Amino acid sequence: MAFQERKRRHADAATHSQRSLSVYFIASVAAIGGLLFGYDTGVISGALLFLKQSFALNATTQEITVSAVLVGAIVGSILAGRLNDALGRKKTLLLLAVIFTVGAILTAISPNLVFFLVCRIIVGLAIGAAASVVPVYISEIAPSRVRGTLVTFNQLAVTVGIAVSYWVDLAFAHAGLGWPPMFASAAIASIVLFLGMLICPETPRWLASKGRWDDAREVIEHIKGEQLEQELADIRHSLSEQRQQTGVREFFTPRLRMALIVGVGLAVFQQFVGINTVIYYAPTIFQQAGFASASSAILATSVVGVVNVIATIIAIFLVDRLGRRILLLSGSSIMVIALVMLGVVFAHNSGHIGGLTLTAMIIYILAFAISFGPVFWLMSAEIFPTRVRAAGASISSFANWSSNFLVSVTFLSLVGAVGAPVTFWLFACMGVLAFIFSWKLVPETKGKSLEQIERYWENRRHWDKAA
Ligand code: BGC
Repeated sequence: MAFQERKRRHADAATHSQRSLSVYFIASVAAIGGLLFGYDTGVISGALLFLKQSFALNATTQEITVSAVLVGAIVGSILAGRLNDALGRKKTLLLLAVIFTVGAILTAISPNLVFFLVCRIIVGLAIGAAASVVPVYISEIAPSRVRGTLVTFNQLAVTVGIAVSYWVDLAFAHAGLGWPPMFASAAIASIVLFLGMLICPETPRWLASKGRWDDAREVIEHIKGEQLEQELADIRHSLSEQRQQTGVREFFTPRLRMALIVGVGLAVFQQFVGINTVIYYAPTIFQQAGFASASSAILATSVVGVVNVIATIIAIFLVDRLGRRILLLSGSSIMVIALVMLGVVFAHNSGHIGGLTLTAMIIYILAFAISFGPVFWLMSAEIFPTRVRAAGASISSFANWSSNFLVSVTFLSLVGAVGAPVTFWLFACMGVLAFIFSWKLVPETKGKSLEQIERYWENRRHWDKAA
């Protein structure tokens, strides 16, 4: 028993070799989970052109093929909280790395559509869980002064994952190897995640929540190496608050109802402006716009992927300087213009609208990546009080994946039923609603402490005078 206990403590807490690890290194290892989220969702776009031939897909089966991963992600987003608390953050990430790896290999050898869909659902479980487990891990391991930046790194990793998936799709399309290696390649990143997490520590907060204060102290001491007593006191305070919590019912009290509306509203609008019709279907859209070959359509998509990454890097610099609201308001306005433009371009489709389509898409993705892309995930982690933060973030994440599913599973049918122009104009209308929602309801949290944000809801949406 004593031996078992010692072995367990050794695996979870910081060992001597881990002590020299910087928090940037640890956050980067965990962010590989974000990279996989991006890669495994983005990879379908280019692969779809080849899957269509292999499995003789029509519009409906294409939508199912794209959306299977989202069904898994919806379930994964619900399971994430429980797994994360029961196993710990580190072991959950190790488990997810295994699922990502096995899923990637099995997907690549799928003999038929049903097998393929089951594999995509399994990979989706890991994606949905990683979407919230990674930010929780990073935020609990990071010193508060760099927490915001490190958490936003995760969204950067998501966009890098998407861009890399486009380039990998392009390389295999060029090489004539089709879709199997596109999916198999994800295993490289997931193996690195697994090996990297083996040498990363468990978070002090989870260790403390299991009563393992000595281990928690050791991790803070040697990984963060600063403000040890303050950090431990904060953890103690938030854990004692958790004990008094009233649970999910608290969201329905007048003061927290608004916080939930903001979290879920941002989640839904992030998807209802149609982002993933671009991320998942861009090559399909480009083909309709006159990019004849699969390679040229995927190449145009790759450009979109790179713009997404660059704009997210810009957002990292802007989010704490200009604030969240101005990004949301300007981003949604520009998205509306780009979507109206896309609709107009498709309404006058002469078969040679590739250049204009690409331009509109670049403007659109730029606007999304400096606004709803990073700001939703950031705010879902900061607007809820400590005692309901995990639950609030997970409800918002669930709303996000469900809306994503709804849009992705209906996109091609919508285009078939009402045409591409009207579909893009519908997304533009959602953009207008997203603007009004952000303008009326979303508070500016730039420079506010988490406690100030908590009091903002308690004071019926008024900031403390001193804040
Ligand atoms: C969204 C994803 C989207 C990605 C695009 C994320 O914030 O949640 O659905 O594919 O941004 O960069």
